[in-house]
Amino acid sequence: DVMTVEDIVVDGSSPEGGVISVWTLNRPDKLNALNAESHRAIKEASARANSDDSVRCIVIRGAPPPEAEEGKRPKPHAFAAGADISEFSGKDSDDVRPFFEDNAWEAVWNISKPTIAMVDGFALGGGTELALSCDIRIASNRSTFGQPEINLGLIPGGGGTQRLCRLIGYGRTMEIVLSGGMVQAEEALKMGIVNRMVSPEELESETMNLAEEISRKSPYTTKVAKRVVRGALELPFSEGVLMERSEFVALFDTEDKEVGVRAFLERSEADWVGR
Ligand code: COA
Repeated sequence: DVMTVEDIVVDGSSPEGGVISVWTLNRPDKLNALNAESHRAIKEASARANSDDSVRCIVIRGAPPPEAEEGKRPKPHAFAAGADISEFSGKDSDDVRPFFEDNAWEAVWNISKPTIAMVDGFALGGGTELALSCDIRIASNRSTFGQPEINLGLIPGGGGTQRLCRLIGYGRTMEIVLSGGMVQAEEALKMGIVNRMVSPEELESETMNLAEEISRKSPYTTKVAKRVVRGALELPFSEGVLMERSEFVALFDTEDKEVGVRAFLERSEADWVGR
């Protein structure tokens, strides 16, 4: 399988039975490069994440490298080293247009629930873009980001130019896209590409702890929060403020607002109902 999906049950989730859906890109021999099959798998998993109420949060990661074959150097760790370049040669615009019009990066971006990229190693090109399609990025200190498409006579095609600009600004995006250079984890942290940087040993627990924390909120309110923060990217400022206010006010008609407020006043755990 080019990607495995594993549901991790969240202890004490309410409504009960909540899971974190962990997706592992699984082509470690090719540094988890995203081929057509990977796109199909990610799109399918995204559709399921949207429709399955038990899924509270999604974590995307890359499979670690296999043991090195005898006499060969080990492959490096990777989240995803980009789109699969072997699928690019000899293709013209008509060949690639349908693929890029319905791609995994948009599918992940359009998931209504919180998404976290857990990056350990190379996240280049489409790999950086997949991480950028997630809401939050946590990286190990041995990770590398970049948009090297310019070196192939291309530009990012999975939303990288736009999402990077919104995340870290115009000048830094230009430098990354025009130079095609690599951005090491520490620099990525300073720039704001990643939210947190930890050691490889801590990466999984750090990521899963955050995913669990998020998964214990009301699944209803979580989706509203994501939608409203997204508004800041799409709307003029004053319209965004109005949208936030109207969504805030609407939450006063939900049961979970009563559940949350009561739990605070009673100093107890909120037992969310999800509406
Ligand atoms: N597409 C297809 N295959 C890829 C790939 C990609 N984006 N990135 C790596 N691979 C493959 C390599 O071809 C190699 O396959 P092989 O062992 O069958 O020959 C394998 O993954 C290991 O990569 P390799 O280049 O040998 O590792 P390295 O440690 O020498 O270098 C990188 C690592 C990440 C610097 C290098 O693989 C690289 O530059 N990859 C392409 C990154 C890129 O331009 N991405 C943007 C695509 S739009």
